Amino acid sequence: MITVSHLTKRFGDRAAVSDLTFSVNPGVVTGFLGPNGSGKSTTMRVILGLIRPTSGSATINGRPYRELEFPMREVGALLDAKAVHPGRSARHHLKSLATANAISAQRVDEVLDIVGLTDVADQRAGKFSLGMSQRLGIAAAILGDPGILMFDEPINGLDPEGIRWIREFFQSLADEGRAVLVSSHLMSEMSLVAERFIIIGRGQLIREGSRDELAKASDQFVFVRTPHRETFKEIAARENWAYREEGETFVLEHVFASEVGEIAFAHQLPLHELSTKSSSLEDLFMKLTADSVEYVGKQRERRKGANR
Ligand SMILES: Nc1ncnc2c1ncn2[C@@H]1O[C@H](COP(=O)(O)OP(=O)(O)OP(=O)(O)O)[C@@H](O)[C@H]1O
Ligand SMILES: [Mg+2]
Repeated sequence: MITVSHLTKRFGDRAAVSDLTFSVNPGVVTGFLGPNGSGKSTTMRVILGLIRPTSGSATINGRPYRELEFPMREVGALLDAKAVHPGRSARHHLKSLATANAISAQRVDEVLDIVGLTDVADQRAGKFSLGMSQRLGIAAAILGDPGILMFDEPINGLDPEGIRWIREFFQSLADEGRAVLVSSHLMSEMSLVAERFIIIGRGQLIREGSRDELAKASDQFVFVRTPHRETFKEIAARENWAYREEGETFVLEHVFASEVGEIAFAHQLPLHELSTKSSSLEDLFMKLTADSVEYVGKQRERRKGANR
């Protein structure tokens, strides 16, 4: 289990992480989401003992990283896939990590096989594509068979096949009872990979919850079609329903479909459609983090002003 408690990290007078508290439990893939510059990598680096917190703490199974005897056996991490020495082969890279952590050479072959790099294991890592480098980074992370895994933006730049592989692989790690923390700045990427989400903005926790909990917090829209449009508008005005028109369809917010159906029935108003749709997790993420985005493009500014 990873426990982050009231973590603050300042660089000069600027706080990259502010009073951040969360935990990452075994058996689940947890998505760590936030816009660029929101403090995801900084948090992960503190957890791995690479930088010291200004205040607060981060622990691995109750102990700070620096106190772990064989860190790679408790926590594995991929922070930067391109950090491997370019002249080294994948096998050489993994073997030197294994030796330093008292891990058997046989395990190197095993992890090469798990990530599908056996055939290219003796090629120089500098020649690897981004996808291959990500796989090598993942191989290094699982080398010590740790119960806790952290991956910083592992999906960045992968093709659809690579994304599918990662999704299934992370799920299998969680199914084996491991705690898996995966960061991303894209909810569209993470919504299929993670089951729980920790959303941060400007170094602070914005929202935490399971997929279902977040789905409940998403906006609900009721879609209505009727041949008697003017009557519907009169009823909507009387009932104070907020709606917009999309072609033939009325899209209502802040009202239940059951209520619309019953009132329409009471007025003998025929409905050709009455349905409910939730906005996507991606819409929710954009809404939650809209004020935390550091560099807002013009297009985005306009969208922020619009209704959806
Ligand atoms: N070593 C450092 N010195 C000074 N400022 C830093 C340092 N590392 C990070 N920062 C700043 O801290 C903030 C958080 O950065 P961080 O890299 O943790 O964000 P991130 O969520 O990982 O972003 P991204 O999605 O772009 O990877 C940023 O404003 C960044 O510029
Ligand atoms: Mg980062």
